[in-house]
Amino acid sequence: MKKHRQPTSRRGIAGAVLAGTLALAGATALAQEERDITAEQFDKFRAMMEEANTAELFEAKGEALWKARRGPKNASLEQCDLGLGPGVLKGAYVQAPRYYADVGQVMDIERRIAHCMVTLQGFKPEDLAKQPFSNAKHTPDLVSLVTYVAGQSRGMKIAVPQASPQERETYKLGEAIFYHRAGPWDFSCASCHGEDGKRIRTQNLPNFTKPGTADRGFIGWPGYRMTGGLMHTLQWRMNDCFRQQRFPEPGYLSDTVTALLTYMGVNANGSTYRGPGIKR
Ligand code: HEC
Repeated sequence: MKKHRQPTSRRGIAGAVLAGTLALAGATALAQEERDITAEQFDKFRAMMEEANTAELFEAKGEALWKARRGPKNASLEQCDLGLGPGVLKGAYVQAPRYYADVGQVMDIERRIAHCMVTLQGFKPEDLAKQPFSNAKHTPDLVSLVTYVAGQSRGMKIAVPQASPQERETYKLGEAIFYHRAGPWDFSCASCHGEDGKRIRTQNLPNFTKPGTADRGFIGWPGYRMTGGLMHTLQWRMNDCFRQQRFPEPGYLSDTVTALLTYMGVNANGSTYRGPGIKR
């Protein structure tokens, strides 16, 4: 309180006057420049954080969880088939969502790992859905597991498959959801992410509809989010964007999210995945 009442210093007044003048001089240009600087500073900070590799802590935790015998069946996840054969982790993350013939469904990686926790370890789906996203008190096991699996695809090319009719249908569904406008603001994902160069405040909104920029929805996830200091997967990101869109949030591990991740993943194909990263 006190601090706020302290002297309206010269600097303060000068600053205010200057700001006012500049505002008159060209508010838009200045605001634009400020935002660019912020984005640049953020990129530098992210590079530093990535060097320190905060996400690796979660990879290590995920690896321990993957190998530990857990759940009612007291089994590890080492026999889990993420699409490339039981126990094959290398490349699995960059090749999902994909069609899994054993369940007759297209699944994204988080959903498939959850499926293995249920079938191999005997966990109940409703227990996994109880607290799906990280908060200050708790990082769900699935978040660390996804981060570990993702780390095994570091440096590999994104190659979300479109070989089966189910995968192609899921892409189409994802595309339809992406462009579907509704809610109080009549927004779709495309309203914010369908063109180049859109921003909200200091945040660049990536365009997910075309190669070259769509990879921003893939690269850096799972991400350690500096806002709040929490590790999150793309499942969380999807729900948070539904919230921004003023839509009801989809259920955890829903078909809707798998379809959106398929649409964005395929559009990102060909780019190199750098592994779990840092997000704003
Ligand atoms: C009201 C605008 C808005 C809408 C509508 C919206 N988003 Fe977002 N989205 C954002 C903002 C803001 C961010 C955060 C950007 C940042 O942190 O730099 C974001 C980030 C993302 C990211 C992560 C991007 C990155 O750089 O890692 C993905 C993926 C994403 N949105 C997908 C979607 C999808 C799918 C939908 C539709 C269900 C959607 N968004 C709807 C505003 C929106």
